[in-house]
Amino acid sequence: MKTDRSDILTCLRNSADYVSGQQLCDRLGVSRTAVWKVISQLKEEGYRIESVPSRGYRLVESPAGMYSESEIASRLHTKWAGRRLLFFESTGSTNPDAKRFAEEGAPHGTTVVADRQTAGRGRRGRSWESPAGRSIYFTIVLRPAFAPDKASMVTLVMALSVAEAIHEVTGLETGIKWPNDIVVNGKKVVGILTEMSMTPEMNETQFLVAGVGVNVNQESTADFPEEIRQTATSLKIESGKEFDRAELLARILAGFEADYEIFEKELTLSALKERYEARLIGRNAAVRVLDPAGEYTGISRGITDTGELVVEKETGETVLVYAGEVSVRGLYGYV
Ligand code: BTN
Repeated sequence: MKTDRSDILTCLRNSADYVSGQQLCDRLGVSRTAVWKVISQLKEEGYRIESVPSRGYRLVESPAGMYSESEIASRLHTKWAGRRLLFFESTGSTNPDAKRFAEEGAPHGTTVVADRQTAGRGRRGRSWESPAGRSIYFTIVLRPAFAPDKASMVTLVMALSVAEAIHEVTGLETGIKWPNDIVVNGKKVVGILTEMSMTPEMNETQFLVAGVGVNVNQESTADFPEEIRQTATSLKIESGKEFDRAELLARILAGFEADYEIFEKELTLSALKERYEARLIGRNAAVRVLDPAGEYTGISRGITDTGELVVEKETGETVLVYAGEVSVRGLYGYV
């Protein structure tokens, strides 16, 4: 029934004209009664569907802010990203969910989405506040055919795709704080947490999960926990507009699918580097590198083909900064 729902909604959304009940039955291989039942259910949920005898059905409008498996699925035009979609009203964290599905054999591109997380995870053991109704939380399963040392680049690919998708949908200028925080007007709107599972011999990547949290419709900074009020923001706070999460998520998945395929060809960021650097915050500006082995300052010059940050020290020496435990700050404030 669930699939029928997504399929029917997809058919309606993708046709400019009316679709007859018979066409729906033929295309989806379901009975007339099944089609009728799904249509009535959708109408009950607030979908505006016009039914004209002898012509069929036409989707006029989705209910405002609708965020569900069928709503997201019906907006996808991808080949593999999100093609298998699991949607939860509430879960602990989509990252461990995705890992569990991956261990059970979920295909490349399987995506777990939640409206709310009760144990959202950030990087470095931090938590990720995940209330219902406002944000996007999703994790995509990837089954790469490359060695574990290439995995960190996937996070940069995701950062680029998400930053561009947000820009396209909202018009906001998105910057990337190396390696993978997305920032609007100096404050963080997106966090990405990539985790990897290796084969027991540790020489092959079994799967990767890339988890993304986007602050979309929070009204004000008071909606964030005290500790991050100075550094976090949402797309709504920055633009004054409310955004449709299903639409934004579909755009993110489409962009990521395309960028990941570019990355996969060469297994370097060479073909994406220019676009990434165009959004890189603090390029050619002073940065402080918080290396546990000793802090230093320098000028950030961009990234290498493999995603390290290139920092020119005052001594003239060029250092490559690897993502991981090192963090980089502008000389003033968070970015
Ligand atoms: C960060 O600390 O910047 C990373 C935050 C990552 C949050 C996302 S939300 C979806 C996925 N599930 C989680 O528990 N974390 C990631």
